Amino acid sequence: MFPRRKTGSLLAAFVFIATFWYFYNAPPSIQPYVDNFSGKLKPASTEPEKPLPTTLSSGEKSTAALKRPPSGYYPVESFISIPTGEPVKIAKLQHALETETSDTKAERLERQAAVKASFLHSWTGYKKHAWLKDEVTPVKAGFINSFSGWAATLVDALDTLWMMGLKDEFEDAIKALDEIDFSTTEAEDINVFETTIRYLGGFLGAYDISHQQYPKLLEKATEVGELLYGAFDTPNRMPVTRWKWKKAKLGEKQEASDSTLIAELGSLTLEFTRLSQLTNDPKYFDAIQRISDAIQKAQSHTHLPGMWAVMVNAAQLTFRDSSFTLGGMADSLYEYLPKQHMLLGGLTKQYQEMYELSMEPIKKHIFFKPMTPDNAEILVSGAVRASTTGDGELRVSKEAKGQHLGCFTGGMVGIGAKIFDRPEDLAIARKLVDGCIWAYNHTQTGIMPEIFQMMPCPDKGNCEWNETLWQSTIVGDYPDHSAPDSMTLEEKAKNAMKDQRLPAGFTDIMDRRYILRPEAIESVFIMYRLTGDKALQDAAWRMFNAIEKYTKTDIASAAIKDMTMEEPPKDNRMESFWLAETLKYFYAIFSDPDILDLDEFVL
Ligand SMILES: *[C@@H]1O[C@H](CO)[C@@H](O)[C@H](O)[C@H]1NC(C)=O
Ligand SMILES: *[C@@H]1O[C@H](CO)[C@@H](O)[C@H](O)[C@H]1NC(C)=O
Ligand SMILES: *[C@@H]1O[C@H](CO)[C@@H](O)[C@H](O)[C@H]1NC(C)=O
Repeated sequence: MFPRRKTGSLLAAFVFIATFWYFYNAPPSIQPYVDNFSGKLKPASTEPEKPLPTTLSSGEKSTAALKRPPSGYYPVESFISIPTGEPVKIAKLQHALETETSDTKAERLERQAAVKASFLHSWTGYKKHAWLKDEVTPVKAGFINSFSGWAATLVDALDTLWMMGLKDEFEDAIKALDEIDFSTTEAEDINVFETTIRYLGGFLGAYDISHQQYPKLLEKATEVGELLYGAFDTPNRMPVTRWKWKKAKLGEKQEASDSTLIAELGSLTLEFTRLSQLTNDPKYFDAIQRISDAIQKAQSHTHLPGMWAVMVNAAQLTFRDSSFTLGGMADSLYEYLPKQHMLLGGLTKQYQEMYELSMEPIKKHIFFKPMTPDNAEILVSGAVRASTTGDGELRVSKEAKGQHLGCFTGGMVGIGAKIFDRPEDLAIARKLVDGCIWAYNHTQTGIMPEIFQMMPCPDKGNCEWNETLWQSTIVGDYPDHSAPDSMTLEEKAKNAMKDQRLPAGFTDIMDRRYILRPEAIESVFIMYRLTGDKALQDAAWRMFNAIEKYTKTDIASAAIKDMTMEEPPKDNRMESFWLAETLKYFYAIFSDPDILDLDEFVL
């Protein structure tokens, strides 16, 4: 079997980077787990350090680059190579689809055309107002450069253009790639993770999906890879994830950060591996394999063994943080494990072992069943704080918080169920997917919020809706101190519900935005391909219509600020994942199964 290829930007997952949201509170009593780096490295370069020039303008690239030894200060002596051999047989993912009647086919194609029209509307807005910039601003026509100014939307959307059969648009975009200069940027820091998933993934995905006919895509991917490789020149070869590229070019020595988001460290795997596979240059794979090895080594020594917390000290490789989630800041680390297994043709068990070890605490502590008025059989991916007491006892406090970002879990667990032969997990995956559909179903706009809270069932089995409990929870969360004593709990709850615009079942909606994210439709699409259940296409159609209704502008599509309002105000942003992922999955779920075939591509 031909090893599965990946389509880069399809696999991009997005980390919710909001430091205000994260509170570092590792209990001080705990002995840090120190994972001493054991990789084989040359001693640090002994070349005398030259005095650094004090400034570097954007154009001044070649001279400055000379200040650094050509292979860096911490060169790798022997590269870890990609496992080779005959790929092992991996279970088929796609379910055979029933034959369609002409009516269902007509309906499906109509839906598919509506998605394509939406894509073209936003793409045209981007072309007109923001060509070669990162994003079009969809409310007030203009652009912003949010990811170093290398045309993020254009690069990220390439494979969707191809997939939708927009070949002329695709070829125009390919021609424009000559204008993108990855040797410099106006930005102070380069975000290694975002650059990897949007640019490197964008090029590689487009290269593979277009049958490797456009060599320029691989050239550009290599330029990005070459650039990013500079961020790995640190004593322990862990990358500087918010990379001060100018300082590095000027020859300053660098070290990984002591507070790195685990997703930013652990989600470079697929793109770097694919780049090594396509270029036959092992250094990219070597770079990420060192990260995977370090992460695996720590896996059983965190506060919640099996999982990794959100924050890691990448310089010391200590994992002391106590905040665990599959949501933002950790998400794609987990997502990449089964995908990396597929990309490597199953030739190493490492990623399977990591995935399987992580699933135990995840199923036990992270996925929860919420109480809902319709007693829905659903699961939501939550979060926990875990700490180990002085005498080694594990203390876990669960948070019944859901995130739109956490919706990727349905697809991940579904894929894991198939490829790792864990049939009992498929029902869990379906309930996770239904949890996201439920959240879309039950809001005023038909759109799920970014972050919300529900009431967890005491256990995952039996759990009847308790109206009194819900009322007292929201009244407790939103007390009205001016309410007369005579007011009943029910009346107070009604008022709180009205003031807060809380749909029944939610106890709080902490972040009411919808920023055009893909995770929910991604999992609905994957579950559809795994099971062939047509109800999932209908769910996707409802989601698509709700999103279209509230996010469309004259120019493109815009994030909304409050999905509980009748007329949600819009934000002047359209991130590249709208065209690169969200609309791609909406399109694919209404397409023939050979479009984004899960048995051919690692998404
Ligand atoms: C790590 O290395 C230091 C210095 O070589 C040593 O003192 C320490 O015991 C090592 N820690 C572990 C966990 O191996
Ligand atoms: C969502 O709504 C649809 C249509 O009303 C319904 O058929 C479906 O069962 C609902 N799904 C969930 C998980 O709430
Ligand atoms: C519902 O919740 C209330 C308030 O916590 C509690 O007193 C009551 O026993 C619960 N009812 C059931 C049937 O569990």
